[in-house]
Amino acid sequence: MLDSFNDRWALITGASSGIGAEFATQLASRGMHLILAARRKDRMTALATDLNTRHGTRCHIVTIDLAEPEAGQLLHTEITRLGVEVELLINNAGTGIIGQIENTAPADIQRMLHVNLLTLTDLTWRFLPEMLQRRHGAIINVSSQAAFQPVAFMGAYAASKSYILHFSEALWAEARSRGVTVMALCPGVTRTDFFDTAGAVGWLEKHSSQTPQRVVKQALRALEKRRQYVVPGWKDYLMTLLVRLTTRRTAVNESKRYFRPPKEKKESP
Ligand SMILES: NC(=O)c1ccc[n+]([C@@H]2O[C@H](COP(=O)([O-])OP(=O)(O)OC[C@H]3O[C@@H](n4cnc5c(N)ncnc54)[C@H](OP(=O)(O)O)[C@@H]3O)[C@@H](O)[C@H]2O)c1
Repeated sequence: MLDSFNDRWALITGASSGIGAEFATQLASRGMHLILAARRKDRMTALATDLNTRHGTRCHIVTIDLAEPEAGQLLHTEITRLGVEVELLINNAGTGIIGQIENTAPADIQRMLHVNLLTLTDLTWRFLPEMLQRRHGAIINVSSQAAFQPVAFMGAYAASKSYILHFSEALWAEARSRGVTVMALCPGVTRTDFFDTAGAVGWLEKHSSQTPQRVVKQALRALEKRRQYVVPGWKDYLMTLLVRLTTRRTAVNESKRYFRPPKEKKESP
């Protein structure tokens, strides 16, 4: 399937770092041209220059804040203006908020939900009909292993990722027979800036994690098989199955140990 992506265009949101930048790298090495969208222009420019030098593929950069209500429309308009046909949309941009609810500003939660949910939904709605009409194309929506259960101290984030998983699976079923694949990517802990940005500075160093390279490689392999979702790494996949075997009460209480603030550590579950 990805052979047909050679010399075609992918739109990657959140392409300035982490998993999004790695998608750009692996897709350029397969001959794809890219539209990179995020806020940090300097990082995307450096990435685009490097990929162009190494693979000769083309890159457009769109500097955009995807938490803004009109972001989806602006991005779609810009791509129409460029005259580019998007063969692969990767809704990867996302942000997390870790902490106790009383220490989190409602405005920050709203911005997170806007990026994680509303803009992702909006972009899917704008690009999917074009793909269905052409009867080819694909969308990868980046969800999380956290989509499979509630997670204490990151409740809104984990719930936003459950939405992405269910939304994507539903569209997978609708689009599959029409030549288009919609797949949810559900990584476990991955070595990126995510946890520092989310407010758990230094957390990543104390926990086992996988590389963005491995996550993206497995995602592209799963897309070739037209899977509805993928959890990279067998241990993380197993965890998503184990959650189904335990009670919901146990699962959510167990989740407290990941991001429990120091003051709460002695509390009984
Ligand atoms: N790392 C993990 O353990 C893990 C696990 C499961 C799922 N995920 C998911 O993987 C995706 C990528 O995260 P990552 O781990 O690669 O972390 P990351 O390195 O922090 O990347 C996040 C990306 O999202 C972009 N972004 C965030 N807010 C944005 C906004 N308002 N407007 C435009 N772009 C925005 C960032 O770009 P700018 O800051 O330049 O705007 C950046 O490119 C996210 O959806 C995350 O939820 C990560």
